[in-house]
Amino acid sequence: MNIVNSSLYSAIITRRSIRKYIHQPLSREDWEWVNKVIEKIKPLVNSNQFHISTVETISDDGSLNLLGIYGRLINPPYYLVPLISGNKFLLTDLGFRMQQIAVRLWLKGIGTCFIGCLSRESEILGSLMQSGNARIGAFLVFGYPSGGIGFQTLLSIPNWLNGKNHRQPFQKIFYQDSWENPAYPPSDIIDLMQAARMAPSAVNAQPWRFVLKGREIYVYIVRNYFKYLFPSNENYCFYDGGICLANMDMTLSALNLKGSWQMLDPNKCYISNTPHTYSALAKLSLEKGLN
Ligand SMILES: Cc1cc2nc3c(=O)[nH]c(=O)nc-3n(C[C@H](O)[C@H](O)[C@H](O)COP(=O)(O)O)c2cc1C
Repeated sequence: MNIVNSSLYSAIITRRSIRKYIHQPLSREDWEWVNKVIEKIKPLVNSNQFHISTVETISDDGSLNLLGIYGRLINPPYYLVPLISGNKFLLTDLGFRMQQIAVRLWLKGIGTCFIGCLSRESEILGSLMQSGNARIGAFLVFGYPSGGIGFQTLLSIPNWLNGKNHRQPFQKIFYQDSWENPAYPPSDIIDLMQAARMAPSAVNAQPWRFVLKGREIYVYIVRNYFKYLFPSNENYCFYDGGICLANMDMTLSALNLKGSWQMLDPNKCYISNTPHTYSALAKLSLEKGLN
């Protein structure tokens, strides 16, 4: 493996949701990092308009209200409120952008957790005085983890050694050439696919499926997925799909791999016999000779 930015790749793989925070302001240096990361987010769709604001809750716990009851329980020192508008892949683009922030904050020892808000979205947009076509999808809470990231990573090592990383095995999500052929990814793309598999998702539903055809990886998402528990959660599959694409895209740059993305038309058939609940999301065309 030709690792160019090993710390970025390791952040992609080791990042975990943090639900316990130290109620303490970020250092000036870390604030600069957060602002720089936000400034440099890569969009999925250039024409979508994106705006993000930061809410600090240390001096005013009333500002936690927007997060709802669950957010109040977590009681993070900060959270991000993203807003996207436009007409293409809005939830997927949100997931794509916000996961870049989550991973890059983890690099600096700053923990994050997505707090989904699809079921309350119009109410939240109303309280932010936003028009009906803007989307938020989820908040991203952040701050220093209680115990620190080193400690949290240490806690997860036994899980890794036992193979218990709470993600589906490749045999359930990865296929070679056709849906009839579940497979283990070939060695030249294994790091890329590990990053895709480790993406976080709402209720850990992991809606992504992959088909490798030659040097092309087709990314699908499962629609009406029972793992989301409630019909009101169904559209998290788009958001989670965007997170998965972000992990793959960041891995391309971390490992200095070359590939190009194409968003797919969900109404077109790219692979024959696609299960009717699967929807095409994107295709990554890899340059030959990854190793
Ligand atoms: C869109 C989205 C919404 C989420 N909403 C919540 C939430 O409301 N509460 C929560 O505790 N975790 C939430 N999560 C975190 C997931 O439960 C978590 O990412 C998943 O279980 C995998 O665990 P990990 O992030 O530690 O790897 C959300 C994640 C995503 C991507």
